Amino acid sequence: MKNEKIGIIGSGLIGRAWSMLFASAGYQVMLYDILPEQTTTALEEVEKELHALHAKGALRGTLGPVEQFKCISVTIDIRELVNNAIYLQECIPERIEMKRALYTQLAEIVGPQTIMASSTSTYMPSLFSEQMPKNRENVVVAHPLNPPYYIPLVEIVPAPWTKPEAVTRTRQLMLEIGQKPVTLSRQIEGFATNRIQYAILNEVWRLVADGVVSVADVDRVVTEGLGLRYALLGPLETAHLNADGVADYFQRFGGEVYAVSQTYGPTPKMEPGETLTKIAAECEEMVSREQLKVRREQRDQFLRELVALKKQLE
Ligand SMILES: NC(=O)c1ccc[n+]([C@@H]2O[C@H](COP(=O)([O-])OP(=O)(O)OC[C@H]3O[C@@H](n4cnc5c(N)ncnc54)[C@H](O)[C@@H]3O)[C@@H](O)[C@H]2O)c1
Repeated sequence: MKNEKIGIIGSGLIGRAWSMLFASAGYQVMLYDILPEQTTTALEEVEKELHALHAKGALRGTLGPVEQFKCISVTIDIRELVNNAIYLQECIPERIEMKRALYTQLAEIVGPQTIMASSTSTYMPSLFSEQMPKNRENVVVAHPLNPPYYIPLVEIVPAPWTKPEAVTRTRQLMLEIGQKPVTLSRQIEGFATNRIQYAILNEVWRLVADGVVSVADVDRVVTEGLGLRYALLGPLETAHLNADGVADYFQRFGGEVYAVSQTYGPTPKMEPGETLTKIAAECEEMVSREQLKVRREQRDQFLRELVALKKQLE
């Protein structure tokens, strides 16, 4: 166990996952929420989850579930939370006015050594740290993917004023708790993950809207095709292996990539209408709303096994 303290702000889905991740490495984790009942529920859920993970052989770290749970405490006093914390992971709802108010408050009560990392999926860090009267150089985004306990990627994104040590320290911490960080050199809308994810969503939407493929088939293109490779090789290494090296790939196929890309057309607006009705109906045929919980459990089990397989290969 370590003596260093990590503060988690917001004890919803993502806050609980971060608590377990930091506890798995033996950090002293304090979980804070504005709603006292949320902290109570979070603690109960986390304890149950740690034992369930242990029973499945999926508990991370070397400590047992009882020791890991002992690392986690809760508070409803933000000053108690930030006191002596080396790092704060913010996980409050994705509402910009809430984030701005919180970071303005943190600026006044957090010491100059504490890193403040946001889990935000969509806001560039300048959007909620610019107005801070001090300590904004310690703000960074550390964006996880859901479910963070099984998907190791964390995108680290600095604001223009973030000091380099805040980025390197966050990266180090992520590695220590077994996550796989990527660092962006500067902030950009959508970071890297959502820029790529949205490019895929745009094309999937267009193919369904134009009646080229069904919803089930367009998803199958990924689950039975591209996605199988992508769990091991990224798009660039895939290209590297599909030719005599990546330079050869782009010399041979670059023109084709460009020509097809010219036919994509305008970015679709994903609004209610005929296409969305069709997508929703076909998705619900694949997995009904009542089955979503079971399907999420299958997803988590699949991810656990995939990550274990990747580890073996490494
Ligand atoms: N859910 C996902 O799949 C996902 C994935 C990656 C990143 N994120 C990001 O993580 C963050 C949290 O998402 P979530 O799904 O856990 O949200 P959530 O709604 O499940 O939990 C938010 C928690 O924050 C608490 N809260 C609200 N205001 C607060 C405040 N001022 N101080 C302290 N606690 C406060 C709420 O009571 C609630 O318990 C968001 O920024 C989201 O974009 C979410």
